[in-house]
Amino acid sequence: MPIYHKLGQFPQKRHTQFRKPDGNLYYEQLFGTIGFDGMSSLLYHVHRPTQVKEIGKALDMSPKIAEAKHIKSRKLIGFNVEPKADFLESREPMMVNNDIHIGLAAPKRSMTTYFYKNSDADEMLFIHRGTGKLKTFLGNIPFEYGDYLIIPRGMIYQMEFDTEDNRILYAESFHPIYTPKRYRNWFGQLLEHSPFCERDYKLPQDLETHDETGEFILKIKKQGVLHHLVYATHPFDVVGWDGYNYPYGFSIHNFEPITGRVHQPPPVHQTFETSAFVICSFCPRLYDYHPKSIPAPYNHSNIDSDEMLYYVDGDFMSRTGIGPGYISLHPAGIPHGPHPGTYEASIGKTETKELAVMIDTFKPLQLTENAMKIDDGKYYTSWLENPS
Ligand SMILES: [Fe+2]
Repeated sequence: MPIYHKLGQFPQKRHTQFRKPDGNLYYEQLFGTIGFDGMSSLLYHVHRPTQVKEIGKALDMSPKIAEAKHIKSRKLIGFNVEPKADFLESREPMMVNNDIHIGLAAPKRSMTTYFYKNSDADEMLFIHRGTGKLKTFLGNIPFEYGDYLIIPRGMIYQMEFDTEDNRILYAESFHPIYTPKRYRNWFGQLLEHSPFCERDYKLPQDLETHDETGEFILKIKKQGVLHHLVYATHPFDVVGWDGYNYPYGFSIHNFEPITGRVHQPPPVHQTFETSAFVICSFCPRLYDYHPKSIPAPYNHSNIDSDEMLYYVDGDFMSRTGIGPGYISLHPAGIPHGPHPGTYEASIGKTETKELAVMIDTFKPLQLTENAMKIDDGKYYTSWLENPS
């Protein structure tokens, strides 16, 4: 996150003595990324953050691949994913490759008995249904419908839900998730043509400091395995921190669409970037205003990219037979385009209410066994003008 942020108390000069009221020292931790080259924060703990008491049995979390190589367009009925009580158990990977795991989750309960850290991947949680609080050792972020939560690798967190009705699209990214470089100046400030600006971010707030000792379970995902560690001190014992490495939120409803006289290409919807995929937000907007414009997209050959679309709300202009929570996958190698009727029907329309999240990956996605369970199986023939 290219904005400096700080919470709590810390010494004026880094790497100097910072003492508690009783005269003992706080424990400084540099929390960096990309060696010492990426964004980092300096944290001050009440206790040493290194006090491991016990390491329990590890659990293999590797996705089970059903189809590694394929060329079939898919439609998954996302809300058919069964809700589960636990947040981690509820997460079902759907489409994966070495760069990203994309999945769905319908957790019912807040995390209260353990803390979680993904040391492999930055996480993106898109909140489709539900409200609550992302609690982290760097502060809390309240969330609601439409929020993207970006949690850089290594952040210790808990999810607190207000009700049992929660639906989340998530991505684990093995590359850092940033905002698009073309919208930032050389200092990182978002430029005037960016579809969002710094004021739109939800930054961590209300730093909670727990000076507690005992037994605290931290589940750490590393190399696809979930490790079970017991720490002697509460993981949320930070009294203050500052820097650039921290979780943040951004509401899709704050994305200001870029429109034009004729159809604008998908990059105008781009919200986040990595070196291996992009995340785009399709938001309600006015349609193209050239007198002869066709608002629906042209057919396009995503010869290099797999395109995953997650439908959130509203009528999606170029699709038929799509509802909230559905996922379509248009794989690399074949063109796709608007469904029969939608191309013509879009002419003369002045606006769309569609709301969707798109993830385009530069390497093909493999389909998991979870995906097969909610696949409609016939989507690939849905462009036929005369279906038999
Ligand atoms: Fe497309």
